[in-house]
Amino acid sequence: EADRMRVSVIGTGYLGATTAACLAEMGFEVLGLDVDEAKIEMLRSGRVPFFEPGLDELLGKSLKSGRLNFTTSFSEVAEFADLHLICVGTPQRDESGAADLRYVNAAVEQLAPHLNRPAVVVGRSTVPVGTAATMASRLAALAPVGEEAELGWSPEFLREGFGVEDTLRPNRIVIGTDSPRVEKAVRALWQQQVDEGVPFLVTDLQTAELVKVSANAFLATKISFINAMAEVSEVAGADVIQLAEALSYDDRIGGKFLGPGLGFGGGCLPKDIRAFMARADELGVEPALSFLREVDAINQRRRARTIDLARQLIGGSFAGRTVTVLGAAFKPNSDDIRDSPALDVASTIASLGAQVTVYDPVALERARAEHPQLNYADSMLEAARGADVVLLLTEWTEFREANPDELAAVVAQKRIVDGRNALDPTFWRASGWTYRALGRQ
Ligand code: UDX
Repeated sequence: EADRMRVSVIGTGYLGATTAACLAEMGFEVLGLDVDEAKIEMLRSGRVPFFEPGLDELLGKSLKSGRLNFTTSFSEVAEFADLHLICVGTPQRDESGAADLRYVNAAVEQLAPHLNRPAVVVGRSTVPVGTAATMASRLAALAPVGEEAELGWSPEFLREGFGVEDTLRPNRIVIGTDSPRVEKAVRALWQQQVDEGVPFLVTDLQTAELVKVSANAFLATKISFINAMAEVSEVAGADVIQLAEALSYDDRIGGKFLGPGLGFGGGCLPKDIRAFMARADELGVEPALSFLREVDAINQRRRARTIDLARQLIGGSFAGRTVTVLGAAFKPNSDDIRDSPALDVASTIASLGAQVTVYDPVALERARAEHPQLNYADSMLEAARGADVVLLLTEWTEFREANPDELAAVVAQKRIVDGRNALDPTFWRASGWTYRALGRQ
């Protein structure tokens, strides 16, 4: 009976907490595990440790139903579930860009010794191709049941800010395995979605691992492609917004992820393309992914260009100037500031001698903790007080809908750099603003 299948979710970060709550919502009995006691306490009391629309509600509902519980004990999850999902993080290790697999290793090594009956372990984390095969043998070697502890890999594709939606209605399920038992367990997990027509693909371990990193590499490439066109447009006298629109009607190209601006950041795309390049190096196929170095470089250049535009607007130097930065999160609908382009730009401008004040609707607390050298304000208008230039760097709706006249009343100079092409230039210029954007005249 699929409804009664018991599932453990190991790692309750962004991916794990969202997965656990969604599976409970789908009717499964779920036990979430994390080694971080404080996080587990928070989740038990119904509080989500990060900002994710809709998750608070789902967590509360699942806890109340009794279908979702949390623990810090590996023996407890081994006792409880026959299917274990590994949802721990794989951050960037160091300058090499390679993925840090210590949490994935630890999850397998700590779970395995408790597996006294046949069990299926499925990795969902993003890992370098080849990791899963290594993990599968380690699992079998460490588990008391030996080969009856089987491991498959099933990457997730969820976007922050849409985690619940992307988990409940994924656009595909991929499972890498050659074991009928693993395939059966994963199929049972997503039976409702498969019945609704969600494609279910069974591949080998390596292909499943590659699907995830190549999807992210493609998305990053698409963003950098349009940002490269923005660079050309700037010097050629063209308009990248019109260009992108015209391209988007070719359905082989499509309009999604073709938004020019400050480029990509966050906990996934930047680190995933770097880890992918590092892995290609190890595999001896470095040239196959050398284009990703350009993708990364184009992305970084957009940050430099944004700073240049602001500097030009205020007459060549940031020293002693007052600068307002709207946005701290790496994208709207998230409080994630990992590799945030907005905070990177803000920090560089501060290091060039300006007083920088940042406002963000949800990410202020995190930003304050990590970038104490910046000033913070609790509202857009307060942040803009006395500004020589305003930079819009994360396209929250609040900023998209900002009233140029209200803002004009508090700034020192009506100058704005729209780093996300989020505003209507005609509208802002009509209220007397000097408006500059990436990829436009
Ligand atoms: C991404 C993938 O979309 C997801 O499938 C994967 O599982 C994890 O990585 P996420 O990092 O949450 O998800 O953010 P996403 O919405 O994909 O945006 C990534 C970055 O690209 C953001 O910084 C965003 O501002 C930027 N972006 C996106 C653009 O600059 N232009 C665009 O057109 C689209």
